[in-house]
Amino acid sequence: MPATAGGLILSGGLVSFPDLAALGEAVHDCRRCALGSSRTHAVPGVGPRNARIVIVGEAPGQMEDQQGEPFVGAAGKLLDQLLRGIGLSRAEVFITNVLKCRPPGNRDPLPEEAQACAPYLDQQLALIKPEVVLILGRHALARLLPGHDSISRVHGRVLFKNATAYIPIYHPAAALYNSFLMQTLEQDFQAVRTYLDRAARQPAPVPAASAAGGTDPDHQLSLFG
Ligand code: URA
Repeated sequence: MPATAGGLILSGGLVSFPDLAALGEAVHDCRRCALGSSRTHAVPGVGPRNARIVIVGEAPGQMEDQQGEPFVGAAGKLLDQLLRGIGLSRAEVFITNVLKCRPPGNRDPLPEEAQACAPYLDQQLALIKPEVVLILGRHALARLLPGHDSISRVHGRVLFKNATAYIPIYHPAAALYNSFLMQTLEQDFQAVRTYLDRAARQPAPVPAASAAGGTDPDHQLSLFG
């Protein structure tokens, strides 16, 4: 099997990495799409290997591109504040993005870029095995739960896929541009807290939809709204 920057290329072009460090190195060397030539720094993601929660945003912005860390700009400050509001710190969650490199001018990710980056996010989730994945915004929703409703319809709900709870929420940047979304965003984070508390009290049974390996739009645990 051919090796690529610490990982193995498996059949079908899937890449398998032994750990997050090897994956991060591969991301720093990555040229799977044109963003590999325009970025300053790749941004694989940060956080503990055994994080209970993985947060998935859209793509690095200018500050993230300069610093090589996700969510260090204005949206990141709001994210930190929202996490603190539900008793979590940035240090205990793993934060990453659909795209590991900044699209020029912060434009939306192109489908081919999301596809090129997909093995990295898939492998991060496979290595960390989080209990909960927070999906920030519509691009992360389309990538992680394709076929689900728009973010405006599913935010704050708990959706199960392969025994993992996925909770879509508005992207913090959306609330910075549209202040009327701030309260909704805070309520969605409260829904996350409610889910975590409930899961701590009684381990969630594996939903039928998970056993089939897919998401069932009907299998939603509505904690808010
Ligand atoms: N917005 C994102 O989606 N990700 C970042 O890392 C920063 C801003």
